[in-house]
Amino acid sequence: MVEITTEHLSASAQDLSRAADLLARGGLVAFPTETVYGLGADAGNDRAVARIFEAKNRPSFNPLIVHLADLADIKALVKWNHLADRVAEAFWPGPLTLVLPLRAGAPVSRLVTAGLDTLAVRMPAAPVAQALLREIGGPVAAPSANLSGQISPTRAGHVLDGLTGRIEAVVDGGPCSVGLESTILGLAGPPTLLRPGGVPMDDLAEVLNTRVATRRETDHISAPGQTRSHYAPRARVRLNAVDFEEGETRLGFGDTDCDLNLSETEDLTEAAANLFEYLHRLDAQGARVIAVAPIPHLGLGVAINDRLSRAAADR
Ligand code: TXA
Ligand code: MG
Repeated sequence: MVEITTEHLSASAQDLSRAADLLARGGLVAFPTETVYGLGADAGNDRAVARIFEAKNRPSFNPLIVHLADLADIKALVKWNHLADRVAEAFWPGPLTLVLPLRAGAPVSRLVTAGLDTLAVRMPAAPVAQALLREIGGPVAAPSANLSGQISPTRAGHVLDGLTGRIEAVVDGGPCSVGLESTILGLAGPPTLLRPGGVPMDDLAEVLNTRVATRRETDHISAPGQTRSHYAPRARVRLNAVDFEEGETRLGFGDTDCDLNLSETEDLTEAAANLFEYLHRLDAQGARVIAVAPIPHLGLGVAINDRLSRAAADR
C-alpha cells in the first residue's frame, strides 16, 4: 500500500467542505459519530469502498453500514416498513442501525452489501456527522475507523494511531458521547437483534411492542462481521474479576479500588462512554493483563459485556 498524507481536520465549515471534497473524489475520511469514529467513503463508488477494506486490513468483504442525514434519502435506498417507522421515530437520529431489503437500482456499490439483498442504514445524531453528511448529500459507507480486529476509536487520536498514512483525512470532533457501536436491528424479516449496542434491547422491544429475536435463535440471519475475537487490545483481558491478582491492571466498576474506573457511580452510560477509551489507554501504558470487574447485564451493560467478551476471546 502506498503511504498517503493524512490530514487532521477540524469541524469548522471550511474543513468539513474539504472533507466532503476528498470523499467526492474517492478519498477515505474518518469522522466522529456519537457511537465511534467511522471510516467514510462514497457508498456509490466501488473503488472508494474497496479502499476501506484495504485500509482497515479487513480480511473479507463484510457488509458496511450506510450513513445519511435525511430519512427521505434513506427510504430511497431500502424497502421501508411500519416497524422501521416506529423505531426510526423513537431513536433516529441516534445509535441504531436498521437492516432492510435493498431497493433495486439503489445507488450503492455491491461491495457495501457484500452481495446481500439487504442494506444496513443509520442516521447518526452527532452534529459533526450530521453537518458532514448534509455537505456531501449522498450515502456514506462507514465501518469503525480502526484496523481490523483492534479496539474501535472514540477519539481522533485513536484513528490516527491506527490509520495514519492509509487514509486521506480525519475530522476531529472530540470524544464520542456514546462510545459503543450502534445497535443493529434486522427488519428484513421478523425483528432480530443482530448486534447489541447504543440503544438497549428493552427500549427497542418496548417501542416495537413485539418480541425481538436474538441472533442465537436465528443463526442464519447474522451480522457477518460479528466474529468472536474483536475489539482486542494487545493486553490479555480477564472478565468478571472479583479479586485482582498480582501484576494485573484493574479496570473497575462501582465503588472499588482499581487503576481505572469505568464508573464509580455504577452509571452504565458513563461506563459505555469510557470503555474503548480506557482500553486504548491501558494498551498505551503497556498493561499485560487487564482484569475487568463484573458489569451488570442490563441496559447498555449488555453491549458492554458483548464487547468485553470479544476483547477477551482467544485470538
Ligand atoms: O456505530 C456504528 O455502527 C459504527 C459507526 C461508524 O456508524 N459503525 C460500525 O461499523 O460499527 P462496522 O463495520 O464496524 O460494523 C458493521 C456491522 C458488521 O458486523 C456487519 O457485518 C453488519 O454491521 N452488517 C452490515 N450490513 C449488514 C447486512 N446487510 N446484514 C447484516 N449485517 C450487516
Ligand atoms: Mg468495527
